[in-house]
Amino acid sequence: MERIIAVDQLVKSFENEEVLKGIDLSINKGEVVVVIGPSGSGKSTLLRCLIGLNDITNGKISIEDVNFTNEKPISKSARIKMGFVFQHFNLFPNLSVLDNITLSQIKNKIQTVADAKSTALELLKKVKLEDKVDSPVTSLSGGEQQRVAIARALALHPQIMLFDEPTSALDPETVKDILNIIKELAHTGMTMIIVTHEMSFAKEIADRVIFMDDGKILEVDSPDNLFDKPQHQRTKDFLDKIIYM
Ligand SMILES: Nc1ncnc2c1ncn2[C@@H]1O[C@H](COP(=O)(O)OP(=O)(O)OP(=O)(O)O)[C@@H](O)[C@H]1O
Ligand SMILES: [Mg+2]
Repeated sequence: MERIIAVDQLVKSFENEEVLKGIDLSINKGEVVVVIGPSGSGKSTLLRCLIGLNDITNGKISIEDVNFTNEKPISKSARIKMGFVFQHFNLFPNLSVLDNITLSQIKNKIQTVADAKSTALELLKKVKLEDKVDSPVTSLSGGEQQRVAIARALALHPQIMLFDEPTSALDPETVKDILNIIKELAHTGMTMIIVTHEMSFAKEIADRVIFMDDGKILEVDSPDNLFDKPQHQRTKDFLDKIIYM
């Protein structure tokens, strides 16, 4: 199996507070990894370090065997290999659906305006929003906005998709739509790291589940093992607290 991401003793501090305390992680191409863990355990920070939204304090991140460290931050060429979907969508509120999806390709001269538009239309069909092309994103529901955010991330043809609690700001009926889109992506062989507490979803699609606690990876296992036979009491206590399955 071909490795796509390697994280080696990653440390991230804010001011004097160590938030990631030596993370080791290796992810293969096509793998779907779900990250769970209590609030403040460092899940978002880990994703943000991977995509270069947070700099690294210590340790090393390799993206397709190119190394990044404190002295050598994640490069733009590595960054555009990754699509990021946030909990709160993070769309450009003053732009239409179409412009949200095409802006970055046009600005970064990745595609011509015409090609960017046709890519966007294709993706909007995939997320079933083709009738909203010209709508301002602010007129859309939360679930629709998240579908735009997914289309926007996919428009850059990423090799890796990172999702940070993509459904936790949505109302229950729309959660399934978004999870189904992510499931379809998983079936195309996309490498994905997904922070989510949707346990039955995780059980269905994850190759591995990571439990983070207090800036560390406490436990990594198959979903069946991690959910049904956690090795650590801390994992068990966490799972007992959240409603699942
Ligand atoms: N920009 C920042 N400046 C200072 N501290 C930060 C910053 N970002 C995150 N932190 C701190 O880092 C710790 C980990 O935060 P992080 O957002 O990664 O946790 P999380 O596991 O994603 O939590 P949640 O489940 O609530 O989203 C928290 O204590 C948080 O307050
Ligand atoms: Mg978070």
